[in-house]
Amino acid sequence: MRLLVTGGAGFIGSNFVRHVHRERPDWEVVVYDRLTYAGDRANLADLSERVTLVEADICDPAALEGALDGVEAVIHFAAETHNDNSLQSPWPFVHTNLVGTYTVLEAVRARGIRLHHISTDEVYGDLALDDPATFTDTTPYNPSSPYSATKAGSDLLVRAWVRSFGVAATLSNCSNNYGPYQHVEKFIPRQITEILEGRRPKLYGAGENVRDWIHAEDHSSGVLAILERGRIGETYLIGADGERNNLDTVRLILTLMGRDGDDFDWVKDRPGHDLRYAIDATKLRSELGWTPRYRDFEAGLAATIDWYRAHPEWWRPQKAPTEARYEELGR
Ligand code: NAD
Ligand code: DAU
Repeated sequence: MRLLVTGGAGFIGSNFVRHVHRERPDWEVVVYDRLTYAGDRANLADLSERVTLVEADICDPAALEGALDGVEAVIHFAAETHNDNSLQSPWPFVHTNLVGTYTVLEAVRARGIRLHHISTDEVYGDLALDDPATFTDTTPYNPSSPYSATKAGSDLLVRAWVRSFGVAATLSNCSNNYGPYQHVEKFIPRQITEILEGRRPKLYGAGENVRDWIHAEDHSSGVLAILERGRIGETYLIGADGERNNLDTVRLILTLMGRDGDDFDWVKDRPGHDLRYAIDATKLRSELGWTPRYRDFEAGLAATIDWYRAHPEWWRPQKAPTEARYEELGR
């Protein structure tokens, strides 16, 4: 098998490439990535020559076409991914997430290549804190931010290309990931690295927002299961029953790092901030026999903290520009 993984030098993409490199020792992987501020070739440095990197844009049809020789399946992770950035400047989100996905679809259509499209639970909007319902693949789309609206649009493009042109695609919508190699702009690594730098974590609003945490390794095993055994045209939700509010998560990080649980700052809320996400992954579990490995969030978080502690050379270059952006936003 020769896979092309768009966005494979980013957080989840590189965790997925590492997972495939370990679990499928005879597969070759072409990582196709523009190396934006969120992509880093260092994320793939420990992998063998079975993994190669093409530095190019998914919005560039000629470059993409050139990378597809011998490729049997494309896993499409590449995207602009950070909600706060999408509120500050939506255009890169519209361009990469919509035009980029369109370009990927046209490329796989021309060559009859299998596609798996990676998406997010944010396309479904948010839930009330006490809503007994959780997201399934029949929940209506109701995105809130420019980021989630462009991901919702990209999902709809994929479905249209399946139905109208017979593209052999599957889709997955996953909840919030954590683990190694996550950019320090995101919640968990931002708080860990703030503490490592001797500052205090920053909690948006009242800290009551709930996220449904899953380890990036479990997201990866879910994607591999769908690639190998998923039904074409189907959407699978990936989640590991990891609901927790942000206040509890910040307190847990502080405690695991030996600090007082109240040693954080309340900061201005994110506009349009989604209240709660919660995934029902029954279809993936029962149809494809997938189960998450990281069921103990506290243990997964402790290992993630250890990883950031051990790799300051990886995250330090990201830290100052990220905090400068947050300072402009007052968050
Ligand atoms: P990330 O921001 O860490 O990485 C994105 C990668 O895409 C980077 O390597 C970047 O260089 C690359 N990229 C961006 N624009 C590109 C372009 N125009 N051409 C080529 N490459 C480009 O993102 P992530 O958190 O790893 O998310 C990966 C995917 O998973 C995204 O599609 C995202 O919507 C989805 N997702 C993320 C989460 C999460 O919790 N982070 C949850 C569910 C789904
Ligand atoms: O649900 C899946 C989505 O999860 C993915 O599609 C996105 O790509 C990914 O970025 C993530 O989106 P969120 O907006 O939920 O993630 P973020 O890490 O930005 O924030 C998580 C929660 O923490 C959210 O409620 C906002 C809050 N937050 C965030 C930061 C950066 C804080 O309270 N303080 C912070 O400093």
